[in-house]
Amino acid sequence: MSGDLGENDIGHTSESEGIGVIRVAVTGAAGNIGYALLWRIASGDCFGKEQPVILQLLEIPQGMQRLQGVMMELMDSAFPLVHDIVCTDDANVAFKDADAIFLVGSRPRSKDMDRSDLVVANGPIFVGQGKAIDAVASEDVKVITVGNPCNTNALIANANSPRIPSRQFTAMTRLDQNRAIGQMAERSGVSASKIHDVFIWGNHANTMYPDPRFATVDGRKATDVFDLDWLEGEFLDTVAKRGKSIIIARGASSAASAASAAIDHMRDWWQGSDGRIVSMALPSEGWYGVPEGLVFSFPCRCENGEIKVVEGLPIDSFAQSKIDENIAELMEEREAVAGLLY
Ligand code: NAD
Ligand code: LMR
Repeated sequence: MSGDLGENDIGHTSESEGIGVIRVAVTGAAGNIGYALLWRIASGDCFGKEQPVILQLLEIPQGMQRLQGVMMELMDSAFPLVHDIVCTDDANVAFKDADAIFLVGSRPRSKDMDRSDLVVANGPIFVGQGKAIDAVASEDVKVITVGNPCNTNALIANANSPRIPSRQFTAMTRLDQNRAIGQMAERSGVSASKIHDVFIWGNHANTMYPDPRFATVDGRKATDVFDLDWLEGEFLDTVAKRGKSIIIARGASSAASAASAAIDHMRDWWQGSDGRIVSMALPSEGWYGVPEGLVFSFPCRCENGEIKVVEGLPIDSFAQSKIDENIAELMEEREAVAGLLY
């Protein structure tokens, strides 16, 4: 293990060079989400129960002491799949040859803020990290952006990393999808495992559209199980505003559920979504009229390590109005960070 927490970087040891080992970078690794995420990665929940990993953990200098404690606990968990742990405050070390990257490190909002208010504090982080990804990550790297506002932060990282294909930069709306399933499960009394194909359009923001039109609940159409007033009213509102409700109730933003959703996102991307529709935000290639490059959540399926947007779904006037609202908001966010898109 590479436990010497020097000012800049700590290299990895030669024991880590086994065949088939993958390198997984996590930023903000000593934060709340990081603390929940690392144990799930280390146990094989994300990349598979046979897949060895090298964890490459990034923090800011002020977070390095806490990161040392996290690394000690990871070592004390004696995970057979963890071949090495690298702790560093240098993104060029953390992302070196990385096969998968979780961009978590950034500031969470407080209860009087919208997520977009964070862009001034957090946006610049994704310039430097995008450049570091460009410089040193594997060309096949899969990147999930969790730090808020995650769609626009992914856009910034993508713009600063021209070597890496845009489709490899994603942002997380899986938590919103999971929240939608949770609401449907509670109202219907059907277990979450029997609820499929509800997904999120747009931005991880209050404007998001959790689309119930293709969802099934224990084999029945969700639109037959629930009344339209609930689906377009309380359901939509609860899912869209859940982040703030948790901040108010917990005094801190969601962490365990966010980490779990990040695992779901990366696991499905890495191992396939088994035909299920899942929500992922990725740079638009013009799908559903969304302007190119906007990082927008679409219905997706994953196969052979690739994300495929599900095309050709019918869009009714309510869905179109929500998609338009999200396009307008994300274009405004893009305009606000124009100076960070090189
Ligand atoms: P936290 O404050 O507990 O941890 C963040 C960590 O990031 C801290 O340890 C901090 O030192 C570190 N950090 C800050 N800047 C960094 C940088 N430049 N490089 C590396 N590390 C850095 O916060 P958290 O609860 O873990 O949340 C992290 C982010 O995730 C927040 O922006 C939050 O809003 C967001 N979030 C997103 C979703 C989603 O669904 N997309 C869900 C929950 C939280
Ligand atoms: C969430 O949805 O829980 C996170 O994005 C945190 C937040 O600020 O709402």
